Amino acid sequence: MAIAKHTHIALFGTSLIRKMFNEGARMKKEFGVENVFDFSLGNPNIPPPNEFTEAVIKIMKEDIPGKHAYMTNSGYAETRAFVADFLTKEQGITLEKENIIMTCGAGAALNLFFQAILNVGDNVVVSIPNFVVYKTYVENFGGVLKTVKCKDNFQLDLEAIEASINVQTAAVIINSPNNPSGVVYPASQIKALASLLRRKSRELDRQIYLVSDEPYRYIVYDGVEVPPILSAYENSVIISSYSKSLSIPGERIGWAAIHPKAEDANLIIQVMTMSTTGMGYTNAPALMQRAIVEVNGKTIDPEIYREKRDLFANSLRDLGYDFILPQGTFYLFIKAPGGDDMKFVEILQDEKILAVPGSGFNMPGYFRLSYCVENQVIRRAIPGFKKAIDKTLSKGE
Ligand SMILES: Cc1ncc(COP(=O)(O)O)c(C=O)c1O
Repeated sequence: MAIAKHTHIALFGTSLIRKMFNEGARMKKEFGVENVFDFSLGNPNIPPPNEFTEAVIKIMKEDIPGKHAYMTNSGYAETRAFVADFLTKEQGITLEKENIIMTCGAGAALNLFFQAILNVGDNVVVSIPNFVVYKTYVENFGGVLKTVKCKDNFQLDLEAIEASINVQTAAVIINSPNNPSGVVYPASQIKALASLLRRKSRELDRQIYLVSDEPYRYIVYDGVEVPPILSAYENSVIISSYSKSLSIPGERIGWAAIHPKAEDANLIIQVMTMSTTGMGYTNAPALMQRAIVEVNGKTIDPEIYREKRDLFANSLRDLGYDFILPQGTFYLFIKAPGGDDMKFVEILQDEKILAVPGSGFNMPGYFRLSYCVENQVIRRAIPGFKKAIDKTLSKGE
């Protein structure tokens, strides 16, 4: 086989979501788009705010010297200053543009950060259920992703995190609101995690970074707020993007913001900046960097997703499905009736419903539904969900 072993393994690991995506494409061709209920991918379906579209048109019409040229790898100074000011208001500490690097989405920011801090054999700890691609991001630089169990309500199990940290632990990743569970970690948990990390850093004589991956920060419901990370723990970095908050994942625009007092903060930004070319990103898209300054913090309306969540959650709960109501994101993470997620996802597929098995998030026994779809798709899929649960629990056919 010509393909490298590690590449083969990485492909296998991330294949569950993509497999469903490809399966969906095949089924849509065979049965017609309107007859397949695709809840597999987290691909925002609501349009970006008008402010975004207007900003892009305005910038394209403007006469700006070097509008489409390469720029400093870390991004435009005005854009970085905008993100720094925005975060200063949100996070309760002062950030400067020197603490920010603009990137091609959160995915690129995570890669650049791990490239900067990981030595071969270092590990990065994350609580399950977790975004599956973290493993690849960490392994890209010789690191090892260590997954640890969570509490029954998907909140962090701090004892499990503590037990998994050792002298080779470079970082802990948190993702709140969480993909796939939709839970938000409250301020009390962040505070407790911060003191745990301070204590372990002292004990092991190694500064452990807290990486907060926050692309869903502004998609929260019922007045829930995502607590600031930078004011809770100095050795921290926030990774984010506009993929979900502006509904523009294909435009690839995001950033990393490092706490000014984190160990080697300036060096890390320098290394991340230098690495962009070597890793093939070079710089974040020029047009998008200008557009997000114009859009000035506006986001899509999370109420649209809240409505979809309630429609889906109420219908599924009535049918007997068991889950925790998500506080944010656009995912429902549901206990697989019968306990076998792979089997149940297949049963759903017989009803032309596409879901992702929890095994794809290191949490077998559950499945994820993404509700980035029209409300009528949710409504029309409900009879299939009824058949699937009835069949599994032998109430039906
Ligand atoms: C938890 C999480 N982190 C990172 C990403 C990557 O997002 P981006 O499009 O900004 O690269 C995703 C995308 O779905 C995600 O769910």
